[in-house]
Amino acid sequence: KYPAKVKIVDVGPRDGLQNEKAPVPAAIKIELVHRLQDAGLTEIEVTSFVSPKWVPQMADAAEVMAGITRKPGVRYSVLTPNMKGFEAAVLSKPDEIVVFAAASEAFSQRNINCSIEESIERFRPVAKAARANNIYVRGAISCAVGCPYEGEIAPERVAMVARLLKEIGVQHIGVADTIGVGTPVKVERAMEAALQHYGVDDISGHFHDTYGQALGNTLASLQMGIWQYDTSSAGLGGCPYAKGATGNVATEDVVYMLQGMGIETGIDLDKLIDAGKFISDYLERKPNSRASTALLNK
Ligand code: HMG
Ligand code: MG
Repeated sequence: KYPAKVKIVDVGPRDGLQNEKAPVPAAIKIELVHRLQDAGLTEIEVTSFVSPKWVPQMADAAEVMAGITRKPGVRYSVLTPNMKGFEAAVLSKPDEIVVFAAASEAFSQRNINCSIEESIERFRPVAKAARANNIYVRGAISCAVGCPYEGEIAPERVAMVARLLKEIGVQHIGVADTIGVGTPVKVERAMEAALQHYGVDDISGHFHDTYGQALGNTLASLQMGIWQYDTSSAGLGGCPYAKGATGNVATEDVVYMLQGMGIETGIDLDKLIDAGKFISDYLERKPNSRASTALLNK
C-alpha cells in the first residue's frame, strides 16, 4: 500500500528562508545545508537564481553555492526562472535546476511577472540548456489546488501545465500546494492530473502547511505511490507572493511519520532536529515542527 522508501528534498534553505525579512548571512545558510546533509538528506534545494529586486534574501545564491562542501551522494538543486538565472546558476554546478510554473494565471503574473504561456517559453531554453549540460530539470506547479488570487484551481489546470512542462523537456514535476489550502481528496485529484503526463516516479509533493493539512496530504499522496516530497527544516518559510501562507510541512514531522510507518528515509531524526534547532535559534524563534517540539522537551 505504501512505498518502502521515500526521498525527501529539504527546501528549507530556499523556500524556507526566501521569505525572511532580515538578511540571513550566507555562512548561516551554508551551515544549515551542511547540517542537513549530515542528517542524511540526499537532496537539498539550496537557493534561487532570481532577481534580487524581487527576492532580496536569495541575492547571495552564488556565494552560498560556492561555500558548500559537497557530500558525495547528495544532490544540490536551485531555482532558475529564466536564462539569466540559468546562466548564473550553471557556474555554481547544481545537480538539478527548478523552473517554476503555476496552475493559476494570476499567481504566475505576481510571482514571475508573466503569463503561464510566456513562462513556458522562458523555461524552454532553460530546460534545453540544462539537459545539454547534464543537469536534471524539475518543474514546480504552484497553486495546484488553490491560489491566493483565484481561489480553487481545477485539476485540469494542473494537467495542462504538466503537459506543457513535459513538452519542453522537464523531467520531473512537483505538485505544489503553495498556500496550504489543500485537503486530501483535492490533492489526490491534483496528483491524478499530474499522473496524466508524468509517471509516479517523476512526481513529488510540495505541501505548505498553512491549515495543518500537509501531513494528511502527504499520506494521501503516499497511498497513490508518490514517494518524493519537498519539506522544510523546522517548517521554515512561506512564499513572498502568497501572503499569509506558512512554510512547507516540517521535515521533522514528515520523517517522524514515515519512521513510524516503517518507511525508509535514510534520515537521522535527532540530527535533523538539531539542524532545525540551529536555524531556528539563529532566527530567534521556536522550530515550527510538532515532532521537534515534542522531542526537544522530552
Ligand atoms: P522581470 O522584472 O519581468 O524580469 O522579472 P526582466 O527579464 O524584465 O528583468 C528585469 C530586471 O531583473 C533586469 O535587471 C534583469 O537583469 C533582472 P535591471 O536591468 O532592471 O537591472 N533579472 C534577473 N536578475 C537576477 N537573476 C535573474 C534575473 N532575471 C531578470 N534570474 C523574474 C522576472 C522571473 C526575474 C522575477 O519575477 C523574479 O525574479 N521572480 C522570482 C520570484 C520568486 O523567486 N518566487 C519565489 C520562488 S517560487 C516559490 O516559492 C513556489 C515554490 O516553492 C512552489 C510552491 O510552493 O508553489 C517553488
Ligand atoms: Mg513552496
